[in-house]
Amino acid sequence: MRFGSLTLKSNLFLSPLAGYTNLPFRLVVREVGGVGLCTTDLVNARSLLEKNPKALKLIETRPADSPLAIQLFGSVPEEMRDAAIYLESLGVASIDINMGCPVKKVCQVGGGSAMMTELDKTAALAKDMVNAVKIPVTAKMRLGWDDDNLTAPGLARTLEDVGVAAIFVHGRTREQGFGGTVNLAGIRKVVEAVKTIPVIGNGDIITPPAAKKMFDETGCAGVSIGRGAFYNPWIFQHTLHFLASDELLPEPAFSERTRIMCRHLDLMIEVFGEELGCRMFRKVAPWYAKRFGPCHEFNKQVVQISTRTGFHDVLAHYIRWRQQFLDENGELLPRFQPPPMVASFIREPASTQREQIPVPRGPVEVW
Ligand SMILES: Cc1cc2nc3c(=O)[nH]c(=O)nc-3n(C[C@H](O)[C@H](O)[C@H](O)COP(=O)(O)O)c2cc1C
Repeated sequence: MRFGSLTLKSNLFLSPLAGYTNLPFRLVVREVGGVGLCTTDLVNARSLLEKNPKALKLIETRPADSPLAIQLFGSVPEEMRDAAIYLESLGVASIDINMGCPVKKVCQVGGGSAMMTELDKTAALAKDMVNAVKIPVTAKMRLGWDDDNLTAPGLARTLEDVGVAAIFVHGRTREQGFGGTVNLAGIRKVVEAVKTIPVIGNGDIITPPAAKKMFDETGCAGVSIGRGAFYNPWIFQHTLHFLASDELLPEPAFSERTRIMCRHLDLMIEVFGEELGCRMFRKVAPWYAKRFGPCHEFNKQVVQISTRTGFHDVLAHYIRWRQQFLDENGELLPRFQPPPMVASFIREPASTQREQIPVPRGPVEVW
């Protein structure tokens, strides 16, 4: 896949997830394989120019973490441009602009990104950045404010005209937040609005079939995966395989999940030091645990770790505790297996509706 001067090994992307898509996680995803381009958490352009240590930590990278896109946010055109020039001088592959929500009323109440208040201003800001660097400049947006204001197609077209090299679009409106169904038809409208640049679809891709459906129904040139990669860093590799062969590889075994989780912790410690790395890992480990089967014993203890040894003690204890849920082959007994993951846009409408019916709290097992 190509955009601008970049040629990527695959058309699968890691979405920015502030607080999560740091160097250790990106390295894990790359080691597992299949991802074409990873993006950092969003970084404030001004903080970067001021060489704020936190901003510099967000862009920390190493040769194995390549190709890398840095996502910038800011509303001052000169700062965005200068930050782009600075990033290019560091050798990053591309720069992504966080566009938040492109509707006036959101920005007026401070809910949206201030830079989106005026389409003309946004286009001028993007154009300045595009003209200042040789590397591709891309933009990431939502579909719009609500279903009546799906402004992304017009914005994408305008940005293409000023030289933006690709558009990433999360198929939800601001009003939806992270709930509701990803709107594939809305993404398709963005794909149809641009002339030649690639549009990369995003939202709720948590399985390879969900990625395929996003491709098939939107015509997008690539897909970008955020939370799905956190549950499952194997998703890129498995999606490439599924797209090429229609064969769904089995979910990774528990031992492979824990191997990668331990590798993730080692990298966290390498990059952030033992104390901070372990503290940060307290919120990372439960994502891995979501596919372990019964995991409350693990989650309860892992949120207290402060050393690598402490983590390994928690894991060893959990592995012993988990044995009660296994059959003679060491596999989870069927009733303890986590339910299959299903993307919002693959779920049957009836089951989506069922979920919206509030259920009373109480001993549900006996009702
Ligand atoms: C914890 C979290 C942090 C996020 N941080 C960013 C961010 O820094 N920049 C951005 O453009 N989107 C951010 N997003 C949105 C994601 O990139 C993505 O568009 C959204 O989560 C939908 O994709 P997914 O279902 O694959 O996660 C964030 C989402 C989450 C859940």
